[in-house]
Amino acid sequence: MEQELITLQNQAKEQLAAVERTDQLEEFRIRFLGRKGQCSTVMRALGTVPKEDKPRLGEMANAVKKEIESWYTEKQQSFSASLESSSNNSTIDLTLPGRKPQTGKLHPVTQIMNEVCSIFESLGFSVAEGPDVEHDHYNFEALNIPAHHPARDMHDTFYVSDSILLRTHTSPMQARIMESQQPPLRVIAPGKVYRCDSDITHTPMFHQVEGFLVDRSISFADLKGILTIFTQKMFDKDLDLRFRPSFFPFTEPSAEVDIACVICKGKGCRVCKHTGWLEILGSGMIDPEVFKKVGYDPEVYSGFAFGLGIERIAMLKYGIDDIRLYYENDLRFLSQF
Ligand code: DAH
Repeated sequence: MEQELITLQNQAKEQLAAVERTDQLEEFRIRFLGRKGQCSTVMRALGTVPKEDKPRLGEMANAVKKEIESWYTEKQQSFSASLESSSNNSTIDLTLPGRKPQTGKLHPVTQIMNEVCSIFESLGFSVAEGPDVEHDHYNFEALNIPAHHPARDMHDTFYVSDSILLRTHTSPMQARIMESQQPPLRVIAPGKVYRCDSDITHTPMFHQVEGFLVDRSISFADLKGILTIFTQKMFDKDLDLRFRPSFFPFTEPSAEVDIACVICKGKGCRVCKHTGWLEILGSGMIDPEVFKKVGYDPEVYSGFAFGLGIERIAMLKYGIDDIRLYYENDLRFLSQF
């Protein structure tokens, strides 16, 4: 019996070494470990050995069976690790690196939008969204741009009907929110805006973020403080900026904010048209007329507002000179961000 067990173990070892394919491995399993296999036969034979030898032989038989089982599992694992080669398909090279699945990414405009929003959220602003299809009232009238006001010309508006249009800026959210809420307010309104215009720096649809803050005794110093923090966080450096007097019908006084050109650092280049400065947003103290239209008392409240274009910020940040690239859906361009 002892000899039989040793032979069984050796045979199993030898035969397993010769196994090259999964079907052979299965045959091996049936031959040695199956219900009618050699291990079972030996176990059954244990019944016939003298009583005093039983514990020793039994233990030995179990150990042999366990060993064969563990060799079998080992081989099986090595087979599943190289499944293809085990099925004898030599045309597949398992050492070749696999194909990477394509992973999606956020569009660069979405990334910048998220970044702008999170900077203002960190400054205590809450986020509000409004409709793309807007009333003439909110887009113009409530912002102190009555019919026939020359400022309307600059908006290249898409009209849906006489009084309904695609919003040309996110500023209507100032009126919508102030109309339904009381100060203090600190809000940003991100979204799509539309203008009938298309060239390397304009697309008919683009994105803006509007922001405004209303409370008692808000001054131009507050506007400068918040916008300075924003531009420095957005462009990651101790960046020079300037507030340049401007005009918007819904703010008085108004200012455009320029940053030192991110390409030439203020020396003058093609991108900044040799001025050394890049315009990044419009802003100003909310005009008392706008407050009156929403029922706020301009003697009690004051506030500032600003509006910035996301594509423009993304262009400056990434040094892109054609805005249309964002909307051509070319993955070679988009996957760089
Ligand atoms: N709505 C303006 C535009 O689209 C941008 C703007 C300028 C927004 C000044 C403001 C502001 O809130 O104060 O051109």
